[in-house]
Amino acid sequence: MVTGGCGYIGSHTIIELVQSGRYEVISVDSNVRSTPETMDRVAQITGVRVPNYQLDICDKTSFFKIFEEHTDIVGIIHFAAYKAVGESVEQPLMYYRNNLGALANVLESCQKFHVPALIFSSSCSVYGDVHHLPVSEETPMGVAACPYAHTKQIGEEMIRNMLVPNPDMNALILRYFNPVGAHVSGLNGELSPDKPNNLVPIIMRVASGKQPSMTVFGTDYETRDGSCIRDYLHVSDIADAHVKALDYLLEHRNADQCEVFNLGSGNGITVLEMLRAAEEVTGHKLNYELGARRPGDIPAIFGDSSRANNLLHWHCRYGVDMMMESAWKWEQHLNSENLNFESYD
Ligand code: UD1
Repeated sequence: MVTGGCGYIGSHTIIELVQSGRYEVISVDSNVRSTPETMDRVAQITGVRVPNYQLDICDKTSFFKIFEEHTDIVGIIHFAAYKAVGESVEQPLMYYRNNLGALANVLESCQKFHVPALIFSSSCSVYGDVHHLPVSEETPMGVAACPYAHTKQIGEEMIRNMLVPNPDMNALILRYFNPVGAHVSGLNGELSPDKPNNLVPIIMRVASGKQPSMTVFGTDYETRDGSCIRDYLHVSDIADAHVKALDYLLEHRNADQCEVFNLGSGNGITVLEMLRAAEEVTGHKLNYELGARRPGDIPAIFGDSSRANNLLHWHCRYGVDMMMESAWKWEQHLNSENLNFESYD
């Protein structure tokens, strides 16, 4: 079971799960932040139609009914959550209710229906503002910069606590750095219901002329060119890590009931370097201005993912060029199909 299967990382993970040939997948997604047509795109790429149960996981009665129909669920990959940093500052309770309420029901379902393997989407934001780079899984959690990051910190603790009285349950916590790009076919990617506020979707909108210009948030950080450093990795690489994580749990290769893995490329890249890479790949000059820092941004973060490399046998297949190339293909697909946040609700 993939929760949030119509979302950005969820749908790419379903593609990798199906293409592995080892898993039969069902999705649960309320579609409040995604569209059910995502499953058409998944079918176009894989040739397999994955059913989506369109319901809110916070509604326990409806959610639990799925387990009566499917008594053979071996694992849950739990993506379904809100993830906009700014919105979480504006509406914290909505984040705590949705992200933690859904996780509580997922954990209860694992207990009640004897699901042995749980994989949880966490985030590098649990580390807070770190001073020693790269961050490893042993880096202590810092103060969460926003309620979104706090829901991930609490979520991790909820899982650990829930495993204590449930020795048959096993969980992996995956802490993502910055997933970007789209499926290499250009047929699936991020489809935001709101105006995007993440870097790569904005770059693509500017490159395609849908947005006249963009701003580089901060050029006075203590980095090599003054702009922020992040660890970007291709969304299909993140997706592939989930298949390997599920294999790992189901083959009982985990040493502990709960293990944590960073998922990053290990490379820190600045915002200005990302802009240059996008200009090269798209062939379009980007119109941008150098602006003030964005509140809540940390100067630099990138991860040490050697644990995932060694234990999950996971390695990034794609570099920055493919991140940009696939994002550009997807942007053109969005435009040709008129699939933009302005055009659907
Ligand atoms: C944030 C969260 C991350 C979350 C992700 C999903 C933190 C530390 N990170 O990532 O956990 O999963 O959002 O939404 O809270 N930028 C510009 N101009 C723009 C847009 C972005 O310069 O128009 C810069 C930002 O300042 C930042 C970088 O691009 O330095 C990446 O920004 P973004 O794509 O929004 O991701 P994060 O903020 O790193």
